[in-house]
Amino acid sequence: MQKVSVVGLGYIGTVLAACLCEKGLSVHGIDVDEGTVDKIRRGIPLVSDGLLPALIGRHTSDGRFRVTTDMSVVRNTDVILVTVGTPLNEDYSPDMTEVETACRCIAKYLRRQHLVILRSTIVPGTTAEVILPILEKGSGLKAGEDFMLAFCPERLGEGTRVTDFEGGVLEEFNSIPVIVGGVDSRSTDVAAQFWDSLGMDTVRVSSSRAAELAKLADNWWIDLNIAIANELALLCEKMQVDSDEVIEAANTLPKNRSSVNILLPGCGVGGSCLPKDPWFVHYLGRKCGLELKTCRLSREINDYMPVHMYDLITQALKDNGRSIEDARIAVLGLAFKQSTGDTRNTPATALIHLLTENGAEVKAFDPWVGTEEGKRVAGECLADSLEEALKESDCIALVSAQPEFRSISFGEIRTLVASPCAVVDGRRAFSSEEVRRNGFTYWAIGLGKKS
Ligand SMILES: NC(=O)c1ccc[n+]([C@@H]2O[C@H](COP(=O)([O-])OP(=O)(O)OC[C@H]3O[C@@H](n4cnc5c(N)ncnc54)[C@H](O)[C@@H]3O)[C@@H](O)[C@H]2O)c1
Repeated sequence: MQKVSVVGLGYIGTVLAACLCEKGLSVHGIDVDEGTVDKIRRGIPLVSDGLLPALIGRHTSDGRFRVTTDMSVVRNTDVILVTVGTPLNEDYSPDMTEVETACRCIAKYLRRQHLVILRSTIVPGTTAEVILPILEKGSGLKAGEDFMLAFCPERLGEGTRVTDFEGGVLEEFNSIPVIVGGVDSRSTDVAAQFWDSLGMDTVRVSSSRAAELAKLADNWWIDLNIAIANELALLCEKMQVDSDEVIEAANTLPKNRSSVNILLPGCGVGGSCLPKDPWFVHYLGRKCGLELKTCRLSREINDYMPVHMYDLITQALKDNGRSIEDARIAVLGLAFKQSTGDTRNTPATALIHLLTENGAEVKAFDPWVGTEEGKRVAGECLADSLEEALKESDCIALVSAQPEFRSISFGEIRTLVASPCAVVDGRRAFSSEEVRRNGFTYWAIGLGKKS
């Protein structure tokens, strides 16, 4: 079995390491952050994501996953996977510093036969034009001859990537094909063989540049598709038609080898990728002399959705004879998405800000988000429990459809909340029938008020 090192133990690195351990590999994790390494060493990942905490606990205690701040351990491994962060600068340009710094350090320990795979989302051209020279210069070795270099983008979705591992099932990791683009054909072959040896499907492309663009094309498409769903939802609310019904019907049209596939609208798009990657595309377009419009537009539309959620809340309150200034709002969900504790770019931030700025009393809760992180997002509005958040609320606003919220019994909570109480469902996660049967009014994105 090959020995692997994973450089960068953030959200992606820990998931990847855990999945590789499940495949039977021995994994060395390296991160510059001592606090991160210390936590993982104790079996605690930085974020709750599906079954990730259980997997990390399992493999730090069985010794298959070892972590350190010392980059020299990569020398004793066969494959080096790079999963460091690639954030946006304030002017929306990409910041490739972490990848470049990590690769400068890796270069010192590079040896013949090494396979280096970049997994971070990067600006197309980076692997061949920036990383290759860094690795060659720092090691004195030649890519494609002495060591192999490829880009294989991370494609797993947060909250769904490690959902069922008992019995060896890691659904997304096993089922999503790995795009493989080497800096030369030998690098592509060797990188593809690595994934093949793990039983994973691969899609070989002719260059690292094509693989880099394919990753961005995926997220460009997803963000734009959600933007269409969101604008359709706004239109449906005006036309008093349910967007869920429209989308379900529209998606039955076969198109090319697939079908129309409009995604779901919601109260906002967050996380580390979708709010960022369309800007990478925009930046790249400009570098090529193009002013690409769709990526900018999708960002604008999707960033507007927390404002629309706020508007729905004010309408729902007004409908119940209340106003925002004297209302108590339970905001359910601080993570950007269900089944994760990741709060990066969460729509909850903008929504809580709008609500409090306009005089509402807000109590926010998310069982997947720790207290420290919760305070960072919700400040003084953070509640310690679901019960505290719901108590005497005039409106329940659902931001992330955590399983614990989906299973709320509206019959049981009706005595806890104020009367009347409105439910504003930003994720279409509640049953409108159950909500209304128990005396609440039901409002939702893409529906407005359920009459
Ligand atoms: N989060 C996701 O769901 C997701 C999905 C697909 C792709 N991606 C891409 O994967 C990459 C990683 O994302 P993430 O969310 O895990 O980022 P992250 O910021 O959570 O993690 C990056 C980690 O790298 C460490 N690091 C930085 N410089 C280092 C160095 N020189 N050596 C060793 N470690 C170093 C940091 O301390 C941090 O722990 C990004 O490019 C992102 O766009 C993320």
